[in-house]
Amino acid sequence: MSDKRGNFGRVGFILAAAGSAVGLGNIWKFPYITYENDGGSFVLVYLAAILLVGFPIMMAEIIIGRSTQKSPVSAFIAMNKPRWSALGYLGVFTGFVILSYYSVVAGWTIQYFIKCVSWSLHGFTSVIDQNLEAEFSTFLSNGTAQIGFHGLFMAINILIVAFGIENGIERIAKFLMPVLFVILLALAVNSYWTRGFQSAIVFLFKPSKLNPSMLLEAVGHAFFTLSLGMGAIITYGSYMKKSDSVPKSAGMICLMDTVVALLSCIIMFSIIFSVPELEREGQFAKSVVIMFTTLPKMFYQLPGGIVLAPLFYLLVSFAALTSAISLLEVVVAYFIDHLHWSRIKATIIQGIVIFAFGILAALSLGHSTGLSQWKPFGDRTEGVFDTMDYLASNWLLPVGGMLIAVFVGWVLKKAATKQMIEEGHGSFALHAVWKFLLRFVCPLAIGWIIYAIIFSGVTFN
Ligand code: TRP
Repeated sequence: MSDKRGNFGRVGFILAAAGSAVGLGNIWKFPYITYENDGGSFVLVYLAAILLVGFPIMMAEIIIGRSTQKSPVSAFIAMNKPRWSALGYLGVFTGFVILSYYSVVAGWTIQYFIKCVSWSLHGFTSVIDQNLEAEFSTFLSNGTAQIGFHGLFMAINILIVAFGIENGIERIAKFLMPVLFVILLALAVNSYWTRGFQSAIVFLFKPSKLNPSMLLEAVGHAFFTLSLGMGAIITYGSYMKKSDSVPKSAGMICLMDTVVALLSCIIMFSIIFSVPELEREGQFAKSVVIMFTTLPKMFYQLPGGIVLAPLFYLLVSFAALTSAISLLEVVVAYFIDHLHWSRIKATIIQGIVIFAFGILAALSLGHSTGLSQWKPFGDRTEGVFDTMDYLASNWLLPVGGMLIAVFVGWVLKKAATKQMIEEGHGSFALHAVWKFLLRFVCPLAIGWIIYAIIFSGVTFN
């Protein structure tokens, strides 16, 4: 049976899961939230969140998938806890929501890759004087372009997932992840020679002032960046071999994700700190879109910018692709495992449904006034795109993550989890520590996030 479902090899699993984890969250979101939180201390708090919350939940998700060899909904049924399959349904729904808007942003990265290639080939000098902000907002409100790039990205995604575990997902991860690391290292090494390198390092690693909202944001982001809280890792875990070590694999995945996040910061900040202070001010007011406005301009002021700029956007598109694949796989695996559809049928139909749903997000960036100004949560969100991100990052992922921690921490007995985690690893000395983190630290940290979202109006997006 497991032959029919497909299986990752040892390296294949680590690369596919790291591919899921490493995405826009690392290269686009992490640098700007680090900037907003003043660097230093936020980075430390984030590292602690990965270690104490992310890493334990990553192992919890993997063992649920691996021990049942099933995607989330069927996995809980197989474990004789049918009520918990609600958690699986929540994950499938979350996959729908996240992929719908994630694919729109991924579309921007393809567009900027193409733009940079063309700038590099003819006339990058004009980029420096161009008003890229105006250009970007025109692009955002161009419905046809938004739907076009979102559609292109979804089409590539569907194609890969339709090929299945070994021939599609594993193969693409084994090819793209090393390429991604090489590009990232090349860019990072290059930043060593920029004027802003030292300031970037100081900004990142010198402790700044600590505040509680940093903690909240760090834990929230740990979920998003590690692809936790919605069963993506449960699903990938279901294709993992029982002879491979869960703690080691989870450790590698968390490590790779963290390294990419930190290197991305070094690359971005070195570029940003290379321009004079005055020019930098104001640009950062719109830190969310900085990747598409300020950054290209700065790239072209660097030596080698004509090569580095397109390379950078290629990197981001690749990272987005391997993440999006995992989101689609969660939805597809449900239709295959639970409803017994064929992979091809599940991938094409669900991919198209998600594409269609994503059109609402694509048109809510200025093209349609109604969609762009939709405010179902009062002043917390504006527009469909923003609302989807708000729902996912603030509600769906934390609630899902909390339930997974409670399930593996409290519902599964000690003997059971010990056996599940040790299979393929041998004696796991830290079992008690891990269980403690799942039982107390994770639920408290997540509970606090949810409390803050409800009562103090904090939002993460
Ligand atoms: N981790 C990815 C990123 O950092 C995004 C992602 C992929 C994701 N799959 C997920 C987030 C599942 C949450 C859940 O960009």
